[in-house]
Amino acid sequence: MKKRMDAWNANLYDSKHSFVSMYGESLIELLAPQKGEKVLDLGCGTGDLAKKLADFGAEITGVDKSAKMIEQARSKYPTIEFLVQDATELAFQHEFDAVFSNAALHWIKQPKPALTCIYNSLKKGGRFVAEFGGKGNVQAISDELVHQIEAEGFTFDIERFPWYFPSIAEYSSFMEQAEFRVTFAHHFDRPTPLEGKSAIKNWIDMFCSGMLAGIPERKKAGITAKVANNLKEVLYKDGSWIGDYKRIRVIGYKE
Ligand code: BEZ
Repeated sequence: MKKRMDAWNANLYDSKHSFVSMYGESLIELLAPQKGEKVLDLGCGTGDLAKKLADFGAEITGVDKSAKMIEQARSKYPTIEFLVQDATELAFQHEFDAVFSNAALHWIKQPKPALTCIYNSLKKGGRFVAEFGGKGNVQAISDELVHQIEAEGFTFDIERFPWYFPSIAEYSSFMEQAEFRVTFAHHFDRPTPLEGKSAIKNWIDMFCSGMLAGIPERKKAGITAKVANNLKEVLYKDGSWIGDYKRIRVIGYKE
């Protein structure tokens, strides 16, 4: 696996972004894990949904590209297998009854190799059940951030945009190219309450370090403050910040 910078802060993630795994619980219903099934949790973060899947009696392997996330997952749930692996370089062949992935695949900017790896990881008859950011996800936040970066005189290179937010047409087509039979694809709004008074600042600090890379710290703080100020009218309602999340959910089978 290539060495890349691991920018995740697993403690901050657990303390301020617990909503990520909370929303994932309804995706578990869509997966309907059975006792004894082997399930790969792809992009497992600090392991909370892997634990919930294990509670159904499924045999779970959790993988994440971030060594810090995996270290935290192992210390929280020592009986579950957690491995550092990149979604585009998975080391499994015909091993799993299901691949499950919540709020992770939008970080994979190369969907085709990831889908091939997912397909290869599944046994014949296995299923892939995933949810992640879809077309238009967090657009108000990212547009305003780019706007403020440029207003401060910095060039924003689109290569720095950290996410892949596809339409269901595009993603289903890539799934089909990887040989999946796509049985379900849904794109929907999911306005997401973000915790705390400084929620937008925390969200930008946690998830947007790549977009702000190379900008001096003092300037970053100013940009973040302006973003929060300008977004207040749109995303701050009744005392809470609401992220403009849009999700896609997909199910595909390996026949
Ligand atoms: C999401 O879950 O949609 C998401 C989370 C962090 C950054 C971008 C998107």
